[in-house]
Amino acid sequence: MGRERAQRESWGTRFGFLMAAAGSAVGLGNIWRFPYLTGENGGSAFIIIYLICIAIVGLSIMIAEFAVGRRTSLSAVGAYKSQNRSWTFAGVLGVISGFFIMGFYPVVGGWSLAYMLKSVTGLLALPEATADVFGAFISAPIEPLIWTIIFMALNIAIVAKGVAGGIEKASKVLMPTLFVLLIIIIFEGVSLSGSGAGLTYLFKPDWSQVTGETVLAALGQSFFTLSLGMGCMLTYGSYLSKKENIPVSALAIVVMDTAVAIMSGLAIFPALFAFGMEPATGPGLVFVVVPAIFAQMGNVGPVISLLFFAALTVAALTSSMSLLEVVVAYLIDEKEMDRKHATYLSSLVITIMCVFSSLSMGQMSGIKLFGVGFFDFFDILTDKIFLAIGGMLLTIFVGWFMKKEDLKNELTNDGTVAFGFFEVWYNLVKYVIPVVIAVVAVMGIAAVEQRNLMLFGLFMIILLGVFSKKL
Ligand code: PFF
Repeated sequence: MGRERAQRESWGTRFGFLMAAAGSAVGLGNIWRFPYLTGENGGSAFIIIYLICIAIVGLSIMIAEFAVGRRTSLSAVGAYKSQNRSWTFAGVLGVISGFFIMGFYPVVGGWSLAYMLKSVTGLLALPEATADVFGAFISAPIEPLIWTIIFMALNIAIVAKGVAGGIEKASKVLMPTLFVLLIIIIFEGVSLSGSGAGLTYLFKPDWSQVTGETVLAALGQSFFTLSLGMGCMLTYGSYLSKKENIPVSALAIVVMDTAVAIMSGLAIFPALFAFGMEPATGPGLVFVVVPAIFAQMGNVGPVISLLFFAALTVAALTSSMSLLEVVVAYLIDEKEMDRKHATYLSSLVITIMCVFSSLSMGQMSGIKLFGVGFFDFFDILTDKIFLAIGGMLLTIFVGWFMKKEDLKNELTNDGTVAFGFFEVWYNLVKYVIPVVIAVVAVMGIAAVEQRNLMLFGLFMIILLGVFSKKL
């Protein structure tokens, strides 16, 4: 196992770690997915449930992942295995989740890259047609594929360089740009006439729309957006220095991530209502509404649009790098591969999956797995099942299979820093969160349309569990 080998890589600086972890958290989940889920789930009530999930479940699990990662100095699979072989499957489930998310995430990253170019080549000339342009673009066979491949190439170049040189360096420069751009867009959107309805939509809850499915969507999104439930933060924690204050870092990351999601909502909904568009447009939302806002800006529109999609691409990249890293770290730690080979091999498989996902938007839209296309298959399976169950397994593992003393030492750096909420955190992780996730999962699966797909996901997890010791 990795521990006996050459010294483990680690983060260069504290700021670098924070930016990389925040870079992993802040991504398409915040800017692309959060707004469209909010739109599909009726607005404010969804946001409130999401915020509760983040505060209670998300923050606690992030602290737990960092603690396990740093304690064991191993990535997901090794960390579980080193404590108890019957738990290997929980780590493997994480690696599979990483793979599956990478089965569609780079496709959206590719759309974002493409929109950088489109911003300055006429996209904004026809603001009424942004929806048609988007629809035509993603359903074309070749163009989106080329962009996906370019996006993957960027990932490979960075991850192959390792932790401090690649991932950390890129995140430090690119993340802050995003904040600034979002603020500009919010001001533009809110100043449009008719934007007030968007603010009402975001902040005045209508509870009549809430079902088990809404709650599962909010819970799944809180895992997705914080990069939890698949060993990503665990792996990042394994590169963390013993001096770092884990609870404080986790809180900072959660706050940043939530801020970006809410800012994205503010950037999109006021403008959407001002333009009289539909909130429930689905995955195209950001690609349709945001260009329409920029089109109103006159000459500077294309430049701001270019910058926005550049920042979105960067946010996507810092997240997809972390997803790829989970798979790569597994191959390095468990299969003894070197970093370069591990990166190339996993990227090749991922790119093939992405080809199917991209084509499922057009050419291959007729091919269904459990009633959905490839893109939705990877998306729904991870977001609605694997991450939440992965998170649940982690809390059970931490609460019931690790020593409380060890956890306390890890979270207080052997008593040198204070963590006043330790008992609260411990009881949440041990008793409350596993039950909450189980209840939400059952309610959600009962309400959800793609029930067979969900049951297939559960079956896969059980199968992994049965064969855990062989993994
Ligand atoms: N948190 C990322 C986002 O919001 O886009 C997506 C993600 C990255 C999910 C890493 C899971 C993960 F391990």
